[in-house]
Amino acid sequence: MTIPISAPAPSRGRIRTASFAGLALLSTALLYATALQQAPLHLCPRCMEAAQWSGIFQASPQNGKLRLEQINISLTEQGYGTPHADKSVDNKPLTMHGTVYSRGLGTHANSALAIRLNGSATSFQALVGIDDETNGKGLVDFEIIVDGRVAANSGLLHGGQAPVPISVNLARARQMLLLVKAGRSSIDFDHADWANAFFTLAPGAKSLPTAVPIPTEPPRMVIPPPNPHPAIHGAAITGATPGYPFRFLIPATGQKPLYYAAHHLPAGLTVNHVTGAITGRLPHKGVWHVELAVAGPRGHADRMLTIVGGWHKLALTPPMGWNSWNSWAGNVNQQRVEDAAKAMINSGLAAHGYQYVNIDDTWEGPRDKQGFITTNKKFPNMAALARSVHAMGLKLGIYSSPGPFTCAGYPASYRHELQDAQRYAQWGVDYLKYDWCSYGQKANGSGVEYFAKPYWIMRKSLDMVPRDILFSFCQYGMGDVWKWGARAGGNCWRDTGDINDSWGSLSGIINRQIGINQYNGPGHWNDPDMLVVGDVGWGNPHPSHLTPNEQIMHITMWCMFSAPLLIGCDMTHLNKFTLALLTNDEALAINQDPMGVTAHLVYQKGGAEVWERPLSDGTHAVALLNMGDMDQKVGATWAQLGLKGKLPVRDLWLHKNLGLKQYGVSFKVPIHGAVLLKIGKAR
Ligand code: GLA
Repeated sequence: MTIPISAPAPSRGRIRTASFAGLALLSTALLYATALQQAPLHLCPRCMEAAQWSGIFQASPQNGKLRLEQINISLTEQGYGTPHADKSVDNKPLTMHGTVYSRGLGTHANSALAIRLNGSATSFQALVGIDDETNGKGLVDFEIIVDGRVAANSGLLHGGQAPVPISVNLARARQMLLLVKAGRSSIDFDHADWANAFFTLAPGAKSLPTAVPIPTEPPRMVIPPPNPHPAIHGAAITGATPGYPFRFLIPATGQKPLYYAAHHLPAGLTVNHVTGAITGRLPHKGVWHVELAVAGPRGHADRMLTIVGGWHKLALTPPMGWNSWNSWAGNVNQQRVEDAAKAMINSGLAAHGYQYVNIDDTWEGPRDKQGFITTNKKFPNMAALARSVHAMGLKLGIYSSPGPFTCAGYPASYRHELQDAQRYAQWGVDYLKYDWCSYGQKANGSGVEYFAKPYWIMRKSLDMVPRDILFSFCQYGMGDVWKWGARAGGNCWRDTGDINDSWGSLSGIINRQIGINQYNGPGHWNDPDMLVVGDVGWGNPHPSHLTPNEQIMHITMWCMFSAPLLIGCDMTHLNKFTLALLTNDEALAINQDPMGVTAHLVYQKGGAEVWERPLSDGTHAVALLNMGDMDQKVGATWAQLGLKGKLPVRDLWLHKNLGLKQYGVSFKVPIHGAVLLKIGKAR
């Protein structure tokens, strides 16, 4: 596929492999023996420092050294690709500033490798830098944490720069963390090498340095019991084109059976009192203030829903739903999509606002004689699937690309855009995710026109069919899509490469959102990619590799970012924790806030981050993040947040009022954890 602006092409769902699985089977003696072999040297005549450093490896076996790549480096968490022994992240010879290093670890920011020492080593040293494969691009910072304290730091290193030595004293140390942090808000081109990296072993030590999973702490979150009293959630505003099919499922929780009502509906819409689905067609342009009501055995609830009738009025709040890619990738099929839709209802997710059920790549079959797209045998009847999803009150999404082929190599929309839009409308599709793959084979350029053109062509095609289809661009942020995505007719646009369930990926994507919040608003949203909580795995689902606190940060920030909330996991295996993350109504209300003013970064220092967004009820949502690798206090003063006076503070993950605060807030936040607050009195 065409590589987007970011160096790493979308990961295409690759999963980290245990490249050193066999190592664990080796006996300690064998490990030692391997550790003490000598490395062939490739010395750079231009780089004396590197040469001197490399020379250490001529130490004799008696010197008691263990190379970094001889421990289980597959436990490295990283933002892109897989860790490689003796090779770069792209699996090429480790090369920095023209010198090839035969030994070391090739990784990608943000990267973390935790190592248990228990006194087994006296020191660690390496030569660190960005691999030459980035052609001079990239900016990173290597850091070593020993027993919870920053013990060494390379300073910022840019691509093409000579590698620098880094070393730490490990005498009596219990554990260490090797980190590579992105030096700017994105992780693009951050191919990081730890070359000639080794431990000096403590004389007589009974164990060896051993890679261990990144330490986790209990999630900072309380799972509340289900509330039997009826409550209405989700979007408080929705829009549609007059005359086109309209569908909105009233999201409501509470002890069943629930009875749904909607008062003052525009002519042409009706509500199903049993399912809560409002369907029909809007009669004309206009704005209607509809009173939704839900009653059950434990009481009743009501809430206003604004319905806006007009042209291009979709996604007035970020879309919420599910997409097949992060769980099933190429293993998606009609049954799995149908099962996901059923699970959306039965698990209660739809009752919290999730409505879209989106098929990603690999559903496509060949074009028929007239040039219309067909499905392949995994999707025997797309129209029937759409009917079934609609009958549940939900909406169906589909995927294509502007080039001749999709990213997974299936037929795509090039020169068939209108026919595809027509076919989607006939089937009853409500959402289109439109990628970029293979378009670069048919066009080239670099300006906004080049990037926007294929999206504009599909926008025009969608405008010609009598159905509302939410339009989602998936081009990874090329050409600063946030600056022109709305003008090109997008309802949302990916602003990153593909997410995966690693801390490196999550933290990199969060920091990529810095400074692009102002382009968000009702109808057009930055899309930092789909969720990776629950069982994900691109064809072979496994429990997310993110720690519970990382998952809390993920949902916190996707709510703060007004991101499309597309669940990426296997919907048929939802556990209590995943459900609690996905159904925190107070957090979801931030995501769905009708004002749509997205969080901006207020403060960032030493891994502490504070993000704030104003909400339409006059309160403020504030997220306090610990992006660092040690517990730390994260706080914000009212002055920093632009607030004043005694203000009520509510903790949205502990579901607890914290009382009135006059000057600010401060919390001990676990490693990679997040605190989400609502501050101020609602109007
Ligand atoms: C790209 C996208 C993914 C997914 C795949 C499908 O990589 O970024 O989200 O849609 O294509 O092939």
